Amino acid sequence: MSPLLVTRTLPEDATDAALRADVRNGLTAHPKWLPPKWFYDARGSELFEQITELPEYYPTRAEREILATRSGEIAAASGARTLIELGSGSSEKTRFLLDALEPSVYVPVDVSESALTQAGKALVEDRQDLEVHALIADFTAPLTLPATPGPRLLAFLGGTIGNLLPEERAKFLASVRSLLAPGDGLLLGTDLVKDERVLVRAYDDAAGVTAAFNKNVLAVVDRELGADFDPDAFDHVALWDAEREWIEMRLRSRTAQTVKVPALDLAVDFAAGEDLRTEVSAKFRRHGVSAELAAADLELTHWWTDSEARFALSLSVVR
Ligand code: SAH
Ligand code: AVI
Repeated sequence: MSPLLVTRTLPEDATDAALRADVRNGLTAHPKWLPPKWFYDARGSELFEQITELPEYYPTRAEREILATRSGEIAAASGARTLIELGSGSSEKTRFLLDALEPSVYVPVDVSESALTQAGKALVEDRQDLEVHALIADFTAPLTLPATPGPRLLAFLGGTIGNLLPEERAKFLASVRSLLAPGDGLLLGTDLVKDERVLVRAYDDAAGVTAAFNKNVLAVVDRELGADFDPDAFDHVALWDAEREWIEMRLRSRTAQTVKVPALDLAVDFAAGEDLRTEVSAKFRRHGVSAELAAADLELTHWWTDSEARFALSLSVVR
């Protein structure tokens, strides 16, 4: 079996401190919000994998179609010897890239330790010559990557960039650019603007899996900070914001209630019908993606979509 190395770049108490700060800031803000990275404990990662199988949730299938048909072209254009992937999750679609690219090192990066170790173990069992160096890290914070052979291809798939707010995206792309050298590339998955009904259904499925995923953030805060959120006291809401071109997921309080967060010595009042924003999922157009990349000094060289033009993969390079 080839080697699997797992590195935690932040001490566990840093995660705890970050959750405390985010919960305090978000639940005392108007309107209330929480960052989406806290969805992904072991249960949240499992629920996300279930979402990817839902008939309504097209992005995973659309991106898989592009990777299945275009990985040869991507490999030829990038020639990378190291594949780095941010928010790698199960690394399931990445297998197409690994097959075409045959890199010597794969560096998956994720906040979800369970997803990372499960994916890493499965990969090294299947691939004799691949070294997997997994990093438990937050991609919104400065990253230190292991020294690996260039050129490097940094993949950010699934449309996860859409879960960052526009100003966070600009900061994120600048920090990605700082990790790359001339000749390296960024492979970016972006979900595209489309019919509102298709979008809303993808985030409000009939089986209620996305609702359970959304409410999982409350279970995380309950477990980690001793809070007394009752998930049944909130409704899952998915809204399309036509102006900002993003889906917003919210949790709407069914009644007037007070939630206690003992670890923060905090009591949070919710009015009946009050929303807590848990995620934005921005949808993109080609000119917007190209402009955001250019602002980070990255030049878009390739743009591939699935056969129904629902989702795009772009390759951009450092000149
Ligand atoms: N790339 C996979 C998984 C997408 S789900 C796919 O396309 O199917 C989003 C992934 O990003 C999850 O595995 C989650 O744990 C991870 N993630 C979310 N926010 C993160 C952050 N701030 N830093 C690192 N990983 C993050
Ligand atoms: C990970 N990310 C791209 C997903 C999305 O579509 O924004 C997370 C998700 N939220 C609800 N369903 C899936």
